[in-house]
Amino acid sequence: MSTTTETAPVPDLPRAAPYPVDLEPGKDYYWCSCGKSQNQPFCDGSHKGSSFKPVKFTVDEAKKYFLCGCKLAESAPFCDGTHRKEKGLKRYNEFLLKANQDLKEKYDREAKLRKLMTASTVVAVVAIAVYHIVVPYHK
Ligand code: FES
Ligand code: FES
Repeated sequence: MSTTTETAPVPDLPRAAPYPVDLEPGKDYYWCSCGKSQNQPFCDGSHKGSSFKPVKFTVDEAKKYFLCGCKLAESAPFCDGTHRKEKGLKRYNEFLLKANQDLKEKYDREAKLRKLMTASTVVAVVAIAVYHIVVPYHK
């Protein structure tokens, strides 16, 4: 019996709100579904190697549209208000917790490095001092 459970990949959360963008009819647009693009809300190819694919879409009239930034809208690429609902708020909380955890880990790593550098400096200073004290007596 197999008990493997597949979980859907979770997109990054570039923004917990929609992106207002002016779009024109007759053009193909590619909405970023993975959340990794540096050109939000559009795909820049950063999804490569993942299971995410951009969502191709067009519009019927030239006007301002609100494209989903939380990557959870069921009417993607258009914002449907999910970012304000329980699902969106939960995801935003998870994102903030992860960002805090990453920041703490970075701070801890830097603190360790600073300690190590301080200890190395002390050892080097002592070694130089001993050298200058001991060597003159052996000449
Ligand atoms: Fe996100 Fe292409 S960069 S789908
Ligand atoms: Fe994603 Fe509104 S920004 S549903």
